[in-house]
Order: sequence, then structure tokens, then C-alpha cells
Amino acid sequence: MTKWDYGGAIDRHPIEPDEKAIIDNGSVLRVHNIFDPLPAFMRSADMIFVDPPWNLGNLNSFYTKADRDDYQKSFEKFYLRLFECIKEINPRVCYVEIGKEYLAEFIIELKKQYKWVTFYNSTYYHNKKNLCYVIRASNKRKKLPLDGMDEENIIEWICENEDYNCIGDLCMGRGLVGLNAWRNVRRFVGTELNKKRLAVLLERIVNEGGRYDIIKDGDKNGNA
Ligand SMILES: C[S@@+](CC[C@H](N)C(=O)[O-])C[C@H]1O[C@@H](n2cnc3c(N)ncnc32)[C@H](O)[C@@H]1O
Repeated sequence: MTKWDYGGAIDRHPIEPDEKAIIDNGSVLRVHNIFDPLPAFMRSADMIFVDPPWNLGNLNSFYTKADRDDYQKSFEKFYLRLFECIKEINPRVCYVEIGKEYLAEFIIELKKQYKWVTFYNSTYYHNKKNLCYVIRASNKRKKLPLDGMDEENIIEWICENEDYNCIGDLCMGRGLVGLNAWRNVRRFVGTELNKKRLAVLLERIVNEGGRYDIIKDGDKNGNA
């Protein structure tokens, strides 16, 4: 077992890049590179919460963890593709988590798509020293009590309290968004580069009583 095996969840919950996991509440997950065409099922999200890599070094560290060597040269190219996917999905509400370095750029991108954009001061790993920001974009102004909360608690709050049918995450990772949606009996859709990280979410869902089927996907778009 290597450092980036995440407890070996992938051996117990195998899933490959050309496969989708269909959870028993209709949620869908897929191992997917954001640079490939957006899978059609992602368009059913009417709300997004995404915590993408925060800069180029961080992005490439995830490529290492995914055992990939197609390292990226431009963080701008990555985040512009992220916002292109968000535009294609067109959710009513979009949350994006980011560090200080690219906060301004992300706000600018979201302002191109939404009338009302604000952000909350946040932290990660429940450590006051780990500062980050959660941006909320929508066309309707709403005051929410999220400032100063850890990002994990923000995700919990959103999944429990926001008004949505299906929450999407384009960088699902080990699945905080999916797990919290599942706990609130809500539908979620998500994509993630690293199958070993996505398998952690599958395991968590099974541990909490869920079931899923793996089905082969027809093409890179995620259309069976
Ligand atoms: C900060 S983490 C997300 C953490 C997540 N919120 C969780 O609960 O685990 C960013 C994620 O983006 C994924 N990622 C990086 N490059 C990607 C790409 N090109 N396409 C899709 N996902 C990517 C990484 O593998 C990583 O899991």
C-alpha cells in the first residue's frame, strides 16, 4: 500500500475511468478529467459546491496522487475550464471554495455568470490557521450564517439547509459533498480525476447503508 492509497478503498470499491457508479437514490459519480467533455448527467445539478485545487502546485500534487504524469503548466487553463463547466451546468446557486491567491480571479469569473456574488471567510481541517474562502454566487440575494465556519461545516449546512434538488461537485475528491447530500436524503452528481479518492466516497455511502451499481459508460461524455 502506498501513501496515496486512501486506505485501499479502491480494492473494495473498484471503479474505472470509463465507469459510472449509480447510487440507489439516483445519484451518479464518475471518474472523469475535467478537461474532457462534461458528462450529461452533471447537468441535472441545480446547485454546485466545488472545492477545486487552489493553485498550480496543488493541482499537480493531485495528478501525482492520481498516479498521472500529464502535469499541467497553467492553473488559469484549469480554472477557466472549471468555470466553463459551471456555465454549461448553469446551477441556480454555485459555491466555490478557494485560497487567497486566486480569490479575486474566481470572483471575477463568477460575476460573469451571476448577478450576486459574495464570499465567506472559512478554514479547513478545523484549524483556525488554515484560512480559505467560500464564494457563493446566485441571481437572488440571500444572507446566510456561514462566515467563520470551517468548510466542512459549511458543506454540512448547505446540504441540509439550501433549497435544491440535486447538488453537483466537479472535483468530488473523497466526497464531503456527496456524503452530506446522502445523509440528507438528497441527490448528488459528481466527477473526480482520482478513482482512489472517489472509492472512499463509495465506501462511506455503503458504510451508511447505501448501495450502488457500476455501469460502463459509452463515451467520454458520460452518455451510456
Ligand atoms: C481539494 S480536493 C477536493 C476535496 C473534496 N471536497 C473532498 O471532500 O475530498 C480537489 C480535487 O480535485 C481533483 N482534481 C484535480 N484535477 C482534476 C481534474 N483535471 N479533473 C477532475 N478532478 C480533478 C483532485 O483529484 C481532488 O480530489
